[in-house]
Amino acid sequence: MRVLVTGGAGYVGATAVRSLRAEGHEVVVYDNLSKGHREAVPSDVVLLTGDIAERSKLDAALREHRPEAVLHFAASIEAGESMRTPEKYFRNNSAWTLTLLEAMMANGVGKLIFSSTAALYGEPRHIPIVETDPLEPTNAYGESKLVGNGCCYGLGVYTASGMRVCGTSMPQDQTATRESAINRSLTWSRLYCKQQPENASPSPSMALTIPRPMAPASGTIST
Ligand SMILES: NC(=O)c1ccc[n+]([C@@H]2O[C@H](COP(=O)([O-])OP(=O)(O)OC[C@H]3O[C@@H](n4cnc5c(N)ncnc54)[C@H](O)[C@@H]3O)[C@@H](O)[C@H]2O)c1
Repeated sequence: MRVLVTGGAGYVGATAVRSLRAEGHEVVVYDNLSKGHREAVPSDVVLLTGDIAERSKLDAALREHRPEAVLHFAASIEAGESMRTPEKYFRNNSAWTLTLLEAMMANGVGKLIFSSTAALYGEPRHIPIVETDPLEPTNAYGESKLVGNGCCYGLGVYTASGMRVCGTSMPQDQTATRESAINRSLTWSRLYCKQQPENASPSPSMALTIPRPMAPASGTIST
């Protein structure tokens, strides 16, 4: 399958790209490199440097590469920062997700996997969080992703709410656990997509019910 991965030079996106390549999919990455790294993108994968705010660049990317699906990881993800500059989060995670969706619709791309977040659920009432738990974000990051989810209303979109899988200060020996959690989430998303008819109603946010791999280390990004 040909897929375009927004945020594919970032932490989760780059892992998704490696996983997709390993399964033989054709991948194009679309990333503004604000937080991502060129080196994180495998050398045999096309990296388009662009922002999801740039409609004309998105149109050109979708026209040229004709992906069958988009995996949307591009976002601002720091809960603390989101409380200081909420407008940045609502632009990037809500408004510009809508720009991406409009570009997809205009270019006939009908499949999206939206990388959501457990932050939609706020303080967990129990672990694991389940899909039917109340959506009660406690920060602008979670709110902005919830609005991003809502932008998908009426489309055949599948969202995967992440668990806390990463932290910048985690010891190296935990990398395998983190990557395995991400890969499990992607596998889950793919399975879910396969089970859905083409014209299925959009899913609400779907929380992964896998246990958190570990408690966050201090200084980690709370996502
Ligand atoms: N890391 C986690 O534990 C976790 C948990 C739950 C959900 N998520 C979700 O996964 C996704 C990726 O998170 P991550 O941890 O890899 O973050 P990250 O910051 O490492 O990656 C985000 C990528 O998106 C790019 N980007 C940001 N804004 C962009 C824009 N406007 N246009 C184009 N590219 C843009 C950045 O350059 C970066 O490469 C996010 O949607 C996040 O909400 C992450």
